[in-house]
Amino acid sequence: MILPIYLYGQAVLRKPTEEITQTPELKQFIADMYETLAQADGCGLAAPQVGKSWRLFIVNGTELAEDYPECTDFKRTFINPELLEASEETCTYSEGCLSLPGISENVVRPKTIRIRYQDENFAEHEEEFTGFCARIIQHEYDHLEAHVFTDRISPIRKTFVRNKLASIAKGKVGAKYKYKRQ
Ligand code: NI
Repeated sequence: MILPIYLYGQAVLRKPTEEITQTPELKQFIADMYETLAQADGCGLAAPQVGKSWRLFIVNGTELAEDYPECTDFKRTFINPELLEASEETCTYSEGCLSLPGISENVVRPKTIRIRYQDENFAEHEEEFTGFCARIIQHEYDHLEAHVFTDRISPIRKTFVRNKLASIAKGKVGAKYKYKRQ
């Protein structure tokens, strides 16, 4: 089932998230998140973006592998993730977000990260990711911390996107996919 994506301005995007435990409904919810991500043509989706204040996000960078070889087979579910380390070395990519349609801005972030998480079977993993994989993970992890990527852009760029963000929050801007707004 395709879930509506909550757009900027919805309170759930600014709420703290809670750790989750295995429930019978969770598998279907995760399957719905993958279906939602695919139809919206995105590479990552966090639970708050579909209205749940849970520490859960999914990534699927497999279609980006041509441009970013590190994304080959990069399709994973991250449950109760914890960022353990981030490199001093940074890189800059232009980011977008399904909750902020029509906005893309350069964001500087650590190039490599180490993360502990549970997969959809609640098996524990600790893994290092770099390049675009690390980028997607950090963007989605931010959603679990009640951040969106425009919180991290330069003050000058923030003034440029302020009106766009206000338009989304007021319901004047929509998206091509199923979404929820004020
Ligand atoms: Ni996002």
